Amino acid sequence: MPVMVPGMPPVQKRIMKEQALRSRNWFGRKGKDGFIYRAWMKNQGIPQDMFEGKPVIGICNTWSELTPCNAHFRDLAEAVKKGVLEAGGFPVEFPVMSLGETLVKPTAMLYRNLVSMDVEESIRANPVDGVVLLCGCDKTTPSLVMGACSVDIPTLVISGGPMLKGHWQGKDIGTSDVWRFDVAHKLGQITQEEFVEAEACMARTQGHCAVMGTASTMAVMVEALGLSLPNNASIPAADSRRKVLSQLSGRRIVEMVNENLTLSKILTRQAFENAIMVNAAIGGSTNFVIHLLAIAGRIGVDLNLNDFDTHSQGIPLLANIQPSGENYMEDLYYSGGLPAVIKEMKSIIHNDVLTVNGKTMGDNCKQAEVYDRNIISTMEAPFKPESGIIVVKGNLAPDGAVIKPSAASTSLLKHSGKAVVFENIEDYHARIEDPALEIDANSIMVLKNVGPKGYPGMAEVGNMALPKKLLEQGVTDLVRISDGRMSGTGFGTVVLHVSPEAAVGGPLALVENGDIIHLDVSSRKLELAVSEEELAKRKANWQLKEKMETRGYVHLYQTHVEQAHLGADMDFLKGGSGSQVTRDSH
Ligand code: FES
Repeated sequence: MPVMVPGMPPVQKRIMKEQALRSRNWFGRKGKDGFIYRAWMKNQGIPQDMFEGKPVIGICNTWSELTPCNAHFRDLAEAVKKGVLEAGGFPVEFPVMSLGETLVKPTAMLYRNLVSMDVEESIRANPVDGVVLLCGCDKTTPSLVMGACSVDIPTLVISGGPMLKGHWQGKDIGTSDVWRFDVAHKLGQITQEEFVEAEACMARTQGHCAVMGTASTMAVMVEALGLSLPNNASIPAADSRRKVLSQLSGRRIVEMVNENLTLSKILTRQAFENAIMVNAAIGGSTNFVIHLLAIAGRIGVDLNLNDFDTHSQGIPLLANIQPSGENYMEDLYYSGGLPAVIKEMKSIIHNDVLTVNGKTMGDNCKQAEVYDRNIISTMEAPFKPESGIIVVKGNLAPDGAVIKPSAASTSLLKHSGKAVVFENIEDYHARIEDPALEIDANSIMVLKNVGPKGYPGMAEVGNMALPKKLLEQGVTDLVRISDGRMSGTGFGTVVLHVSPEAAVGGPLALVENGDIIHLDVSSRKLELAVSEEELAKRKANWQLKEKMETRGYVHLYQTHVEQAHLGADMDFLKGGSGSQVTRDSH
């Protein structure tokens, strides 16, 4: 915070403010060092007074043509720059590795922690006083926020915004329909030509998935944490108001630098509790759990898996958005946006937490109005009574597993059945359509070795498609259990994030075909009906069959990644190293 002494002459005040700027350690230097730092800014045609003594704002851009959800970010960055300049700052845009959910193999989650390192070191190493994070496709939000938390300078998030909903054959469609189209295509209900035609009809505008998938969940998360301006979560990418929000964010980050409003002042324990409650009310993705835990670990807030269950308890589903409901993110915006949802929750959330605009969450939401009760319901008459993330535990998941009841079949939330086991995802693909596979409507599908270490990277394959022979019988859901994740756009009675995972010898590794499994969501139980003696015998014979990489980033990841119930960050990345750089190279 600049020191303001009453009566001090304005020039002196300005100098004291400049001294407080991090960037003064570069551009304010005398002698050779200052020469070098300034000269190589001037080669871009920038006059010295544009950057010297001004708050320098880094715009961390995940633009990439390989991340289609973020392909419009150059436009957003220009809007941010306008705002920064208007407020008297100096904007500098820099790239970091970008993770597009649809194209990156084997799974974008494998690289979330790598990107967080890129972001952390890029911010710390450079002369920036504040940073704007441009986040969109799923992993581009947690990775950037995690990295920024480990530096802890003033930071503001802008999300890319959802696509407009698609239209196909007279119906509104979005990413959750991909799963339905796949089933219809398998059953011959739609042709290959119709299948291909639907692609362009669904993804018809810029932006991330139009439903409450993981990207939208992450956008809601940052707004609920207080890290973005109000309405960041739901303004569509194609709506001109997304650019207005970006420009206003550019203005605001300059003020945040002057106020020294750092991330740790916003990301309090109460802010995390708010995010969990809001995630329940909007039917957010199960991926929220793993990313919020990782962010909390970076900023030093003590959050654990049980907190998600505890703070979700009794919170109904207020937002009628797919996959838990029927509508789309743009409908949420037109109906009042996230501030209207949070206002509905004003009796339970922490209203007095600080947000990036310097106001409290309660202040930000108090003027919000609901324009359509079919989209945003009241707490008293909710869209669905049950929501949130439920944590189940038992001898099959001693450290916990998660399920999203609002996206599950109510009839399967208490179910016992025989395990149909797949040793890994390749085994699943090889045998799922085998006519000899013993599986029926009561079976429980179990998938091993898709966890953090085992896959590696915890693939989004937990909602395994059912075999055609069951689909033809009209079976639409089975209990499915794995140590992997599920796309936020997916649905079904899917138990995910089983911890410890199979690849570290967790009980999941010991399940055999025909074992009886009991799932009782209301009692938070997940039990394998096999005696302790038998499990001990199986454990003694267990051997890891999955490959462990011996070089490169994947080796680093497999060596250090933590289990899902801890957020799957790498052990040496927990916490932060601050923003100080004490050595120069010149
Ligand atoms: Fe990028 Fe869904 S694929 S948000």
